[in-house]
Amino acid sequence: MLWTLIRRHLRPYLPHVAAVAVLQLATVLATLYLPSLNADIIDNGVATGDTDYIWRVGGVMLLVAMAQVITAIASVWFGARVAMGMGRDIRRSVYTRVDRFSTEEMGRYGAATLITRATNDVQQVQMLVLMTLNFMVMVPIMSIGGIVMAIQEDPGLSWLVWVSVPVLMVIVGLLVTRLMPLFQRMQDNIDSINGVMREQIMGIRVVRAFVREEHEIGRFRDANATLTDTSVRIGRLFVIMGPAITIVLHLATAAVLWFGGHRVDAGLVEVGALTAFMQYLLQILMAVMMGTFMFMMFPRAIISARRISEVLETAPTLHEPAVPTPLPTADGGATVEFRDVTFSYPGAESPVLDGVSFTAEAGRTTAIIGSTGSGKTTLVSLIPRLHDATSGQVLLDGVPVTDLARADISAAVGLVPQKPYPFSGTIAHNLRFGDPSADEKQLWDALEVAQGAGFVRERTTGEGDAVATGLESTVSQGGTNVSGGQRQRLCIARTLVAAPRVFVFDDSFSALDVTTDARVREGLAQHTRGATTIIVAQRISTITSADQILVLEEGRIVGRGTHEELLESSETYREIVDSQITAEEMA
Ligand SMILES: Nc1ncnc2c1ncn2[C@@H]1O[C@H](COP(=O)(O)OP(=O)(O)O)[C@@H](O)[C@H]1O
Ligand SMILES: [Mg+2]
Repeated sequence: MLWTLIRRHLRPYLPHVAAVAVLQLATVLATLYLPSLNADIIDNGVATGDTDYIWRVGGVMLLVAMAQVITAIASVWFGARVAMGMGRDIRRSVYTRVDRFSTEEMGRYGAATLITRATNDVQQVQMLVLMTLNFMVMVPIMSIGGIVMAIQEDPGLSWLVWVSVPVLMVIVGLLVTRLMPLFQRMQDNIDSINGVMREQIMGIRVVRAFVREEHEIGRFRDANATLTDTSVRIGRLFVIMGPAITIVLHLATAAVLWFGGHRVDAGLVEVGALTAFMQYLLQILMAVMMGTFMFMMFPRAIISARRISEVLETAPTLHEPAVPTPLPTADGGATVEFRDVTFSYPGAESPVLDGVSFTAEAGRTTAIIGSTGSGKTTLVSLIPRLHDATSGQVLLDGVPVTDLARADISAAVGLVPQKPYPFSGTIAHNLRFGDPSADEKQLWDALEVAQGAGFVRERTTGEGDAVATGLESTVSQGGTNVSGGQRQRLCIARTLVAAPRVFVFDDSFSALDVTTDARVREGLAQHTRGATTIIVAQRISTITSADQILVLEEGRIVGRGTHEELLESSETYREIVDSQITAEEMA
């Protein structure tokens, strides 16, 4: 999983990786060469008092050291470019994949974990790549090369290598095995704190309304305490790790000096060689330590890679046709036809829509009415392919929507959702979503029709230099700084600017008062002339003038016709009308 993910995303950086390998090889060779040069100076220069020799070899040492610094810096530079570039690419892959998710896949994951996966998990993989690139050549060559060189300097002390290396490995290994489960826990803790935080931000009004602050604060405190606890445990192990490693290194040094000193006394080895041996031993231990750290990153990165790959390998349930059929006509309204459409949400037992058939003609208004939960939103969501029909067909100008290119559907169908969602940015930016080239007059016209021009004109946001008014005033993410009715009018205007061939209003008028509702529809009738209009509504007055009204009950069409016809023919329709008349009279 980790390997596949890395291999796939490493491909564009292979030349960089090769550069890292070559540069590191040079660095390591220089590192290994230095102690032996140092030994030469001590044994052949200092011991014999040959200043010339000291200068000469010292000069070489300086050059080697400089080369080592330059290659080391260059290798880290390339390594960082690869790791960060790869991180960016993986994040982009995750983003584009999530972008193609339908509501089903979104629901399966939830926002919190998708965000963690796209950020924190990618970071883990990125860290591993960075570490591996920095150490992949260095660790094996430095440890093996170090051993060879050390033994060459003094075979009599080689047993010190065989003792100290395993001791260090055991100590670091023990600490690492304690750390691994904690890292796994930390990832889960981050997920849950993200979840709580997100829910609290999104649901802040509800929390306030139900005076649930205490409870929510408690929930956050728990999640936060768990994360802190995990971090503290990790910190504690790290605190032990530093001194433990230092002790091993110092003990090794002391042992070299102690046993080596005796050997120097006995004339078995020269001082320079002993110094070199000590430096090699330290290099070996360093390499072993870095190698262990690198392996320590693996389990955590594997977990993260699995979480990322899961997202990347989720096939979107809505397939784009390989060879899309073009729409037969490009202008005016497009006929929407449902042919015996049945739809069930995944995992649900009974279908939400059952044998729905109707045709919404161009230039006409089709209204859909029905109680809450009768399937109205589900029905209209099939037109822009937010879902696909379980059986039966939805056709646009006679072409099944499943045969159309996604871009063609988006251009043809303008859906104003039941829960409108303005994006963060200026009002103009929001309105131009469907048509980036729309001029200001078009924006104002659309606002005029949607009865939104008044409040936009008076709107001021920001302070100081950032004050903005009218079209340039800002809307926050999700439209939390405009009222529900304003949000709805903005979203109607947004769809008007896009000028689609089919307008679908899902309960878009219910947040408006009766007068505004009437005015908006009046304006729409002028503005959308020729287009196909589908209106989902709760209020009878919204739909009395529709050319065709469909009465939906538990996913079936139980009545169809004009207002007058339905008053005659449909019991359900009469009940709805009666209930609303009574409500109005009482009000
Ligand atoms: N994403 C979903 N997953 C599962 N069931 C859903 C989903 N959305 C809606 N439903 C169910 O489908 C039925 C119809 O819902 P909906 O189309 O929103 O009705 P309406 O818009 O008429 O109020 C309801 O019973 C609802 O519980
Ligand atoms: Mg609905």
